Amino acid sequence: MTGFDVITVDGPAAAGKSTVASLLASRLGWRHLDTGATYRAVAAAALKKGIQSDDTQGLSQLVASLRLDILDEQTGSRILADGEDVTDLIRTPEVSRASSPVSAVPAVRERLVALQRELARNRNTVAEGRDLGTVVFPDAVVKIYLTAGAEERARRRYKDFQAQNKDISYEKVLSEIQERDQRDSTRAHSPLRPAEDAHVINTDTLTPEDIAEQIVHLYHDRCVRA
Ligand code: DC
Repeated sequence: MTGFDVITVDGPAAAGKSTVASLLASRLGWRHLDTGATYRAVAAAALKKGIQSDDTQGLSQLVASLRLDILDEQTGSRILADGEDVTDLIRTPEVSRASSPVSAVPAVRERLVALQRELARNRNTVAEGRDLGTVVFPDAVVKIYLTAGAEERARRRYKDFQAQNKDISYEKVLSEIQERDQRDSTRAHSPLRPAEDAHVINTDTLTPEDIAEQIVHLYHDRCVRA
């Protein structure tokens, strides 16, 4: 174990993890680690090389040699795959679609979990993803699991896509979110589920600021008790 603290924020797609984790990281002055971006970057690299998202062997070979760099900049972090900045590309519907099957490949998870642990080794970190409280950081000081109804999450994701001028209907966004939930929570390797010691927070009616505040309190309570 290191002397640095990790707070994990897990939950399904569009539950508000990124907004909450980024607010929380800036309130605490900690690093914000978006682990979903690492899976998306592998999916983007696979699409570029024409590797199908069900080609386990091809993806295993790709991830063994792919270089991923995360640059923390004032405006947010950038992610580079083999030197190419894929920060914007990884948010497209095509990459979103490919990222779920890609993230179910054990060799991809092994490589990315090692990278995620390495990134949190020398800084206090707010890490968001699916399996952070259960697998990646089982000793995290505070574990959060955010939930929200599928319709509310689809509305949020649809708004993001509209802001990016992406041509996709609300119904399609909803069905893709439901499909992804199903696949992420039933896969054999590190399925999506709350850690036993996670605080489960429903984000349907709470603002990100309220949630970040609640987590800061949980962290301070935890530190007082330690
Ligand atoms: O959080 P997100 O939508 O950016 O995640 C993209 C995909 O990566 C999603 O299908 C689930 C997967 N993922 C994962 O399996 N484990 C993580 N720790 C983070 C994301």
